[in-house]
Amino acid sequence: MYHKIINGETIAEMQKMPAESVDLIFADPPYWMRTAGVLKRVEGTDYNGCDEQWDQFDTLGDYENFTRSWLSECRRLLKPDGAIWVIGGMQCIYTIGAIMQQLGFWIINDVIWHKKNPTPNFMGTRLNNSHETLIWAAKSRKSKYTFNYKTAKELNTDTVSESEYSRGVRKQMGSVWKISVCQGSERIKDENGDKLHSTQKPEELLYRVLAISSNREDVVLDPFGGTMTTAVMAKKLGRSSVMIEIDQKYCSFGQARLNATEYEDSPVANAVFDQKPPKASMADMISAGYFTAGEQFCLKDGHAVATLLEDGKLLYNGEEMDMHSCAAKARAVKAKRLNGFDVWYVKRNDGLTPISAIRAAYRSRQQQNV
Ligand SMILES: C[S@@+](CC[C@H](N)C(=O)[O-])C[C@H]1O[C@@H](n2cnc3c(N)ncnc32)[C@H](O)[C@@H]1O
Repeated sequence: MYHKIINGETIAEMQKMPAESVDLIFADPPYWMRTAGVLKRVEGTDYNGCDEQWDQFDTLGDYENFTRSWLSECRRLLKPDGAIWVIGGMQCIYTIGAIMQQLGFWIINDVIWHKKNPTPNFMGTRLNNSHETLIWAAKSRKSKYTFNYKTAKELNTDTVSESEYSRGVRKQMGSVWKISVCQGSERIKDENGDKLHSTQKPEELLYRVLAISSNREDVVLDPFGGTMTTAVMAKKLGRSSVMIEIDQKYCSFGQARLNATEYEDSPVANAVFDQKPPKASMADMISAGYFTAGEQFCLKDGHAVATLLEDGKLLYNGEEMDMHSCAAKARAVKAKRLNGFDVWYVKRNDGLTPISAIRAAYRSRQQQNV
């Protein structure tokens, strides 16, 4: 695994990189916030929003040209099955989304990052802006992008309460993520103890993005590195990272932050929830002695007996067939096939044992032997 921070202009730096060299991109570009004047908190102190030089553009045309250029480079750098996440607020996300579609990216989801602790609308002139949007898109419609579906379920605390989660309840991750804005000790401070960066993203957000849409040892690119949140989470999860950032100060603080980060070997980092169990064919289990040719398969109530043949098929009412078709026949259902592992039992120790339990024992032995 490697982690590289490049101090430079992102389009020029991306142009130097080889095509199809990146698995996943996370981009947190300038939002072109267009804030004017000094915003006051209710109690009268100044509120530091984002009025940085790097967020200034003269016209919508300029912003569109910039967006098209960096997104085109991103697309060139992605492997054919690669994907990209772009985060933005209401000021920019519609422009970005339209250009992504024009360039041929294939939108997988748009995710609402619902801020648990948003900045209030001090003036009371419009709704409290309490979310940002992430667009998750594949390089093209044909891309077989990574999605660790079961890992996402493990990380879903948005629609599962704490007590449900502790009881083992897991639900599909949805497209509204409830995460706090970056705060407390996570906020990087400069040499004077002030906030280093105005738009540092929360680690939890990046942790989710990388855990569910990349795998160990993948290469992750962030063309707008800032405080290097993406690299820090990539290192923690065992992914490589390439970060580009125009501001030298952000690069050096980000490098220190990265140096202080360790890889954490964990089921999430390795996406173990999504690993497919080893193959277990009937014929293999017969040769390994877990089943015997000639033994009887039956339903839970002991009826509808079929005989196991050497090749793993079943003989039922004089007809040879695979155990899944046979399961449908034995249960007399309309479907042509049922999962035989949910249907069949065999005699073991004077009782009936589901064949799925015997397969589980076989798989666990296989895994021990790896
Ligand atoms: C929205 S911030 C990213 C914050 C980052 N996600 C984090 O968690 O700290 C955008 C960053 O892009 C950098 N930037 C803006 N324009 C750039 C350009 N043309 N080339 C390289 N970096 C640029 C800015 O300096 C800024 O740090």
